[in-house]
Amino acid sequence: MQTFPADSLPPELANCDARLGLVLGSGLGSLIDGFGDLIEIPYGEVPGLPRSAVAGHAGKFVIGTLAGVRILAACGRIHLYEGYRADEVTTLVRAMHAAGCERLILTNAAGTTRLHQPPGQWMLIEDHLNLTGTSPLEGGPNFIDMSEVYSEPWRESFLESAETLDLELGRGVYAGLRGPQYETPAEIQMLRHLGADAVGMSTVLEAIQARALGMEVAGFSCLTNWAAGLGDGHLSHQEVMETGLSVADDFVRLLSHHLAHQK
Ligand code: HPA
Repeated sequence: MQTFPADSLPPELANCDARLGLVLGSGLGSLIDGFGDLIEIPYGEVPGLPRSAVAGHAGKFVIGTLAGVRILAACGRIHLYEGYRADEVTTLVRAMHAAGCERLILTNAAGTTRLHQPPGQWMLIEDHLNLTGTSPLEGGPNFIDMSEVYSEPWRESFLESAETLDLELGRGVYAGLRGPQYETPAEIQMLRHLGADAVGMSTVLEAIQARALGMEVAGFSCLTNWAAGLGDGHLSHQEVMETGLSVADDFVRLLSHHLAHQK
C-alpha cells in the first residue's frame, strides 16, 4: 500500500486541522450546505487524485465546521465501475489520512433489501460484504483484521443520538458490488440470503483502506430505493439522487447532535 505523499497536498488541505473526514455519496453533496466556514478545493488541485465523472459527484474537498468540529468532506468519490483499480478508488481516503483525519464517516446511496427499512430512511452500517472481488490492499499490507470495521463504540453513540432525536435509524449489513449496472431481482434474492440489508457500489474498499491506516470508521447508507424486484417500479439514478436530497437534513441533524455531545 502506498501512502499519500503529504508534501503534495495543497496548503489548505495540509493545514486543514480536521481530524474527522466525511465521504459523501450520490446525491448527498447537499449535506455540507449546513456547514460553516467553507473552503473548497477541487480534486483537480490535488496532484495524484483520479477524478470522478459520475453525475452527482462534484469532485472536491470541502473543509467546514459543524457543531464546532472541523470536518474535511470529500464530495464525490471514485468508483471501480469507472474503470479505476481498487487502490485508485481509495486514494481519496489516503489523502484524507495524510491531511490529518483519524476518523472517517462514509456515506452512500443504497438499495434496501428489507421491508422493515424502507427508502427514505438512513441505515447505520454494522458490517459489510465486500463483493467487489478486489481490495485496495493487494500487494500488502496482508491480513488486516476486519472483525470490527465499523467502530462499535462509535455506532453506539450514533444510535443514542438517533434515539434522542427520535430519528429512525436502521442498521444492518451493506453489500458492496462492482456495478455499474443495478442488480437483477435474482441477485437481490441471493444477496438477502447472504445477509445483505442494503446494496450499493461503493464504501467497502474505502472502509478497508481506512482500517489499514488505523482510522476509526463509521458508515451510513441512505436507503434511496427498494432493491430490484422488491418495489413496483424500475430503478433509476434520478430516483436515487432525489431521495438522497430529501433526507440529507436528517443526517445533518444526527451528525450535529453527535458532534455536539461527543468530542
Ligand atoms: N443497487 C446498487 N447500488 C445502488 C442502489 C441499488 O439498488 N441504489 C443506490 N445505489
